[in-house]
Formats: sequence, C-alpha cells, structure tokens
Amino acid sequence: MKVLLVGSGGREHALAWQLAQSERCSALYCAPGNAGIAECADIVPINAEDVDALVGFATDKAVDLVVVGPEAPLVLGLADRLKDAGIKVFGCSKAAAQLEGSKGFMKDLCAKYDIPTAAYGRFTDAERAVAFIKEHGAPIVLKTDGLAAGKGVIIAQSVEEACETAQEMLSGAAFGDAGTEIVIEEFLDGEELSFFALADGQSVLPLTSAQDHKRAGDGDTGPNTGGMGAYSPAHMMTEELGRKINERIIEPTIRGMAAEGCPFTGVLFAGIMLMDGEPVLLEFNVRFGDPECQPLMMRFSGDLLEVLLAGAEGRLDEVKGRIHWRRDTALCVVMAANGYPGAYEKHSVIMLDHAEFGHEVKVFHAGTVRDEQNQLVSAGGRVLGVTALGAAVSQAQANAYEAVDKITWPGGFCRRDIGWRAIEAEENNDKASMSC
Ligand code: AMP
Ligand code: GLY
Repeated sequence: MKVLLVGSGGREHALAWQLAQSERCSALYCAPGNAGIAECADIVPINAEDVDALVGFATDKAVDLVVVGPEAPLVLGLADRLKDAGIKVFGCSKAAAQLEGSKGFMKDLCAKYDIPTAAYGRFTDAERAVAFIKEHGAPIVLKTDGLAAGKGVIIAQSVEEACETAQEMLSGAAFGDAGTEIVIEEFLDGEELSFFALADGQSVLPLTSAQDHKRAGDGDTGPNTGGMGAYSPAHMMTEELGRKINERIIEPTIRGMAAEGCPFTGVLFAGIMLMDGEPVLLEFNVRFGDPECQPLMMRFSGDLLEVLLAGAEGRLDEVKGRIHWRRDTALCVVMAANGYPGAYEKHSVIMLDHAEFGHEVKVFHAGTVRDEQNQLVSAGGRVLGVTALGAAVSQAQANAYEAVDKITWPGGFCRRDIGWRAIEAEENNDKASMSC
C-alpha cells in the first residue's frame, strides 16, 4: 500500500516510524515531514494546510491511504476533499472536526447527549458575558470558540480579570475571529489525564492514556507550551477508569456525532479532569496529542497501518484484539530551542548523528532540517522528542535523560523533571506496600 502521512512534528515522526514497520506498507510519503521523518519516509515539500496540493499529490501517486496528523487540515476539510477524490483517509470530516474547532459545538453536543463536562454558557455579547461571570464568580474559565494555537483558554482568578478577558476576546482584539464567540465555564479542580480512542464513524477502539506537561519550566511552572514532555500510561489510570471514560464520554460522543449527521472517523483525544475519581471531559481534540503520541507509539504493538486502514474503511471491529500495549511506561522529553515558547533561536546545529541509543530509546524529530553540509539544524520551537521505555516510570525517566545527555545541542533546553507526579505516586505506592 502507498501511504501519505500529513504533518511535520514529533507526532508524525512517531506515526511514520510505526507505519513504515508495517509489512503492507510499500511506500510511505510524508508532507512536509522533517529530517527525522526523512529516515523512514519520502519527504514531499507540500505544506500540511495546502489542501489542493495534497489532494493533487495523492491522486497523481495513486495513494491508497492518507493519514492526517494535525487538526488544521481536518478543520479545512482535507478528509472531505480526499474522499470526494476517491482516496481513503484516516482523519475526520470538516463537520466532525468541530469537536476541536468549536468549543461551543463540543459543549452543546455534551449537553445534548449527557456527557459529563463543566457547566457553561456561550456568548457573543460582552454585556451578557459579564453578567454571567458576575453571577458565577471566580475562578472561572474563558475559551475562544475557535482554534487559537492552543492559547485560547484563560483561567481567570478574579471576576475583574474574567470580565476584562471576555471583553477583550469578544472585541476580536485578543484572538481575532477565533474569539468573537466564547465559552465561559465552571473551573474544575482535579488531576488531568488524556485518553485516546479510534473511531470509524460507528465503532470505537479505545487505545490508552497519557499525561503531558504543558508548562515550560520544571515543577510545572512558567509559560504554557504545546507540551514539554509526556508519558503513557497516566499513573492514575485503572481498568475501571478506562471503562468509565469509554462508556460515559467516548461512546456517547461517537453515537451522538453519528446521530447529528457528522460521523466521526479518526482519533478522538479526550482531555479528562478527575473529580473525586470520576472523569469529567475538559476538551476534545480530533488528533493524537503531541508529544503524547510519541510514548503511545513506543508502547504500541501491532500493525498500525492495518488498524488505521480498518478505521478508514469502517471495519474497526475487525482489528479489536490485534493491538497490544507494552506494560512498560514510555516517557518523552521534549528538547526545545532556547527562548521557546517565546521568540526562539533558529538553525542551531544539533550533534546527534554520533550518539548511540539502545532499543528502549527513540529520538523523534519535531522541528529539524539538514543544511547544505548535511548537518542537523533546528527548525522550530519544539525540536526533538527523546522517548524511552522503562519497567517503572522512574526507569523510563532515567533512560530518557541518559539519552538526552548524549545529545549535544547548545541552542536547546529541556525540562529535567518530566513524569515527576507519576514518580512521586510510584514512590508513595512503594512506601505503602512496604508498610503493609
Ligand atoms: P482546553 O484547550 O479546553 O483543553 O484547555 C487547555 C487547558 O486548560 C486544559 O488542559 C486544562 O488544564 C485547562 N482547563 C480547561 N478547561 C478547564 C476547566 N473548566 N477547569 C479547569 N481547567 C481547565
Ligand atoms: N500536548 C497537547 C496537545 O497535543 O494538544
């Protein structure tokens, strides 16, 4: 089979690495890819949001399956256009991408199908938004309806801050069109985890859980980022919790989307808050998380191409039982360019080619290119995702940082504490089992 993967981040490198291992994969293209992906796929210089060019390429090359990594092309309707051209695609339609692309759509769906989520209101009018905030008090959460590059969520600590934020968002000053409608919702206090499932329009194939670290600095401090590291499984995950997430959140969403006339095919990524042990939905994304996908793919055992093809063809039930997850923890440390998430250095040389890593380590590339001298140089904010397996979280963390330390890159930095909550929980469990 000829496969085209769309995207250029660490997530896509992890997907490309698994897809390339499939016996059924005769050609793997990636648009636009990066220097790491070039080691396992043919790079195609087409931007991930250039829908016309992607459809044209897939048609010319008679691609059998297109796998879409990021949400932006889905929101632009890439999956619909490919289907119209008779090309199979793993990724959701433009209508279904509203689950991520419109917070208001997602909240209304939850309300209609009894999916547990924070209480909310939708607003386009600043006066009504201010009245709602005054009625509910702070802390309170404000979200732009549309995509705002991960920055459209503000947790306001006071009523004044919330009112100012609402006015700024609705005026279009803060987030442009993405913010001219907003969702204001109840603040939920608990521990977060991410859960992933595949869907083929009707059936669900639950995958596994992960947790990421969104802040730039150690101890989860500093500015928000796309994610500075992640591990899988999430430490508070149990079989019982997985069942509840599936029955209360994932399954009703897939049924609801089908009933609404926009069946969901692709990856459903649920951001979950645990409130007294019960799962409450924070958000949906219509893609794998980045960097969560990197540890997921390290733990994945099976034929990814076979599974994604079954998803695209509405046959997910057939592949249930054919995928397994390593019991080990996989942990990914993101190495980012100095300055990230603010203005960051570009084109700094990364000395990686000389380093040797064991089979338990994989260095996924997120933002790299080769220069004229074939040196590896940085080409983005998040640049590498150093991912390692270990029997315990602490072992996975030690393996990942041992690998990080083999990489010489003065232009970059990483957090040194990825997985700390899970390691603390692991240590407490050890103490508890020693004392009984
Ligand atoms: P979202 O884009 O909706 O996932 O929001 C990004 C992050 O904001 C989440 O991962 C949470 O950490 C936080 N967040 C979103 N909604 C809430 C909420 N209702 N209560 C508390 N934190 C939230
Ligand atoms: N790491 C969070 C995300 O991919 O949205």
